[in-house]
Amino acid sequence: VLPPDSGRRRWLQALCAQVLERAGFSYVETPVFESAELFARGVGASTDIVRKEMFTFSDKAGRSLTLRPENTAGICRAYIEHGMHKWPQPVRLWYWGPFFRHEAPQAGRYRQFTQVGAETLGSDDPAIDAEAILLLAEILERAGVERLRLRIASLGSPETRQAYAEELRSYLRGREAELAPEVRERLDVNPLRAFDSDHAGTRAVMAAAPRLLDRLAADDVEHFRAVLGLLDAAGLEYEVDTTLVRGLDYYTRTVFEFESAALGAQRGVGGGGRYDRLVAELGGPDTPACGWAAGVERILLAGAKGPAMAGPDVVVATATGARDAVARALRLARELRAAGLAAELAEPGRALRRQLRRADRVGARAVAIVGDDLQLKMLDSGAQTPVAGPAEVVRALASGGEGADPGVTA
Ligand code: HAM
Repeated sequence: VLPPDSGRRRWLQALCAQVLERAGFSYVETPVFESAELFARGVGASTDIVRKEMFTFSDKAGRSLTLRPENTAGICRAYIEHGMHKWPQPVRLWYWGPFFRHEAPQAGRYRQFTQVGAETLGSDDPAIDAEAILLLAEILERAGVERLRLRIASLGSPETRQAYAEELRSYLRGREAELAPEVRERLDVNPLRAFDSDHAGTRAVMAAAPRLLDRLAADDVEHFRAVLGLLDAAGLEYEVDTTLVRGLDYYTRTVFEFESAALGAQRGVGGGGRYDRLVAELGGPDTPACGWAAGVERILLAGAKGPAMAGPDVVVATATGARDAVARALRLARELRAAGLAAELAEPGRALRRQLRRADRVGARAVAIVGDDLQLKMLDSGAQTPVAGPAEVVRALASGGEGADPGVTA
């Protein structure tokens, strides 16, 4: 990630930090690799991520380690290992960092990518789900992601889901002749996949198929209605999508995904949901939880704005290569920075003409020229005047516009 793209990323990171930290989320870093078993148990042994996409290797002690494909399992591991259930609940954590999946690379899909994510552990209140969704919506909107769509559903409990899968399977068996061959083959493994088929016959069968949402237990329905009610009250638009499938096994109740039509085939910008059983499944106390992660590269591809890279306020140049002038230039640059300016040292050994050209190319507002005296040249007007010292440079630049603020709040 090179400049100037790196600048937009830093800006996005500052935006995420601001939105999430104001909402009470604390920043957390977990290791980039964890035991392979954590992901097999956490994400689910039958998911594509675990079956096909993990970078797994043995260390010198013969332990099987995996470059993390996602962070929810790692966060739950940390929650258990560090006794976070003794902290005030719910525990709110956010993260930003590299993740790894061995997928076929294409636009918006990489083997190393960056996620920003937020997890709330220790509450099953529907307000937690709604707030998580609203925070992601706020980040995506303020980042300038265009043509957003939010899909949401509830998966209920694993028991309901299993009973439903049985029901769907026998429904599909009854109309097997109308189905695409590949759907027929996968009936035993995962009948839900039939909802994704483009095959005309299959689609007709699926249109009349039983829906999981109609089979949810009463308390799950009530929870889902409460989440939707809170989103309505907040004025956030969404589509209830009974066919929404997420590629991770740990979800219970709410699942959601934001897509941007500004992206190509890889249109999922961020998604998540509730995982009320994961902490307990990994050996911790019963801890309902909910969260999301979003792809940083996809947010930036989908039209995230971000300030144009600002040049330095001032470039400090030397009129001669004399030792004394160089030492004074270095001191002046340090004094200007201490006063809050962005001050870049030009390469003192070069001809002054070339130092000035560089100042122009990096977009500096002014050049301070250290020679027998100190001169300040404003690059917009070309005016050059002698100045007494750093204080006068600061004053001259303060009267002429904005500093180099990253502008997250702008
Ligand atoms: P996920 O949907 O697998 O969820 O990934 C979240 C986001 O990461 C995706 O929406 C996408 O923007 C980005 N992403 C995934 N794979 C790639 C890739 N190969 N290249 C570029 N971007 C990618 C999770 O990871 C869950 N841990 C989310 C969650 C948190 N659920 C509950 N808490």
